Amino acid sequence: MHIKYDSQSLAKIETPALVTYAFEHENRIEGALAELDAAIGGRLKTIADAGELTGKTLEMTMLHVHGASGPARVLVVGAGKADKFDTAILRRIAAAALRHLKARSVKSLVFALREGQLTAAAAQAVTEGLLLGAYDSDSYKSEKKAGAAFESAALAGFGAAQAEAEKGIARGRVIAEAQNFARELVNEPSNKLTPRILADRALAMAREAGLDVEILDEKRIAELKMGALLGVAQGSDEPPRVMVLTYTPANPRPGAPVLGLIGKAVTFDTGGISIKPAEGMEKMKYDMGGGGAMLGAMRAIAALKPAVKVICVVPSVENMPGHRAQKPGDVVIAMSGKTIEVINTDAEGRLILADAITYAKQLGCTHLVDAATLTGAIVVALANVNVGAFTNNQPLMDRLLASAKNAGEKIWPMPLDDEYSDFIKSNIADIQNIGSGKGGGAVTAAAFIREFVGDTPWVHLDIAGTAWLDEGKPWSAKGPTGVPVRTMVDLAMNFQ
Ligand code: BES
Ligand code: ZN
Ligand code: ZN
Repeated sequence: MHIKYDSQSLAKIETPALVTYAFEHENRIEGALAELDAAIGGRLKTIADAGELTGKTLEMTMLHVHGASGPARVLVVGAGKADKFDTAILRRIAAAALRHLKARSVKSLVFALREGQLTAAAAQAVTEGLLLGAYDSDSYKSEKKAGAAFESAALAGFGAAQAEAEKGIARGRVIAEAQNFARELVNEPSNKLTPRILADRALAMAREAGLDVEILDEKRIAELKMGALLGVAQGSDEPPRVMVLTYTPANPRPGAPVLGLIGKAVTFDTGGISIKPAEGMEKMKYDMGGGGAMLGAMRAIAALKPAVKVICVVPSVENMPGHRAQKPGDVVIAMSGKTIEVINTDAEGRLILADAITYAKQLGCTHLVDAATLTGAIVVALANVNVGAFTNNQPLMDRLLASAKNAGEKIWPMPLDDEYSDFIKSNIADIQNIGSGKGGGAVTAAAFIREFVGDTPWVHLDIAGTAWLDEGKPWSAKGPTGVPVRTMVDLAMNFQ
């Protein structure tokens, strides 16, 4: 989709659909909107006077205009209360407007920012909203939905802030395309995306983006003694891979921090010998959502060039039952040397993360963030609204939460007291891979990962509830969300 800046006055813009937004209790049609309204016979004012333009969040009011020139439609989206308005709401307005029009086979729009709101940040949010809203998981449909390809959009404001707008559009495009790249990976079924294929896709992306990249194969993984990861991988004929992508800034300072982004990429999670029930198992193709998001973030980081060095480590396996699969009660030795009793082979994500984190630290990462579709328990706790975040370092958590706010992704801090480590004591090994059945499943999973992090500042993001939408939202297709790509990019851009 082509997106540009348009400086014309609203009433003059020739477009199939002119989109703008109205706040709650905003019963005046003022400024440039009034100019536009005058050009369409005052119909907006008529609707507002009748109380039909309530401004409630994401309310859609669409008018067809029969003028000789100017827009063919005007779509006014409810923006909620004016004092709650921010770029997160703006992003959703843009996405919901595009989806509303796309469903009606409209292929082009102009999005008009309100008075004084055409900042670079607003232009970025609208651009992201439009590109994210345009995504649908229909890559395997022979016939695309009506209006599938949205062709173009323009941003119009009430002023001449062209440079700001263009800066925001360019940045928004990089970030949204990276997020959609992640969503496309997550949408792939597991027969089309094995660990080897994921590694090939990561390699191709890294080369195109100009990142350093190394793919560790099963031989190299064994040399590195990643016993926890190999235990999971051994049940599948598909060999494991570990992807390592590195972004190095132009003038790296010696002693500067190195941000490590680790993403769980289980291309399919059957549960292994502790096999999952059939119902809903097909969704376990999204168990590589953390890895997909971190790869997406690296794609944007390569283009936006933050000052900090970033290393991304994505461990990838297929978790299968079979005659070679690891069995409940098996003991594996992690790369760090810790021994792990595998009580439940379905708690495999933490096993592959353990070795990926040890490796990331060996590569020199001074700060770590991992993203993983790790537990059903986080779905119980936070549903599909918030990502659960766990940390051993409050300052890093605070930075990450600030980035989440900037990026419009909902992330909620969860506790991780020392007591939770008691839950993963094993009778015969250093630790066991599940809690002792006393609840707190998302927390004990985080406590398990903490064992491998040590003192390195770290945040763990459990995205099991948020990486996939079972039902679409006005602003998003159902299926993969690409969370937390935007937060990771913002964190890297604002690091140190
Ligand atoms: N991949 C799952 C977690 C998951 C659940 C992701 C639901 C998305 C939706 C993970 O590997 C898993 O199976 N976790 C188990 C852990 C348990 C055996 C301690 C779980 O949460 O049930
Ligand atoms: Zn599992
Ligand atoms: Zn899993």
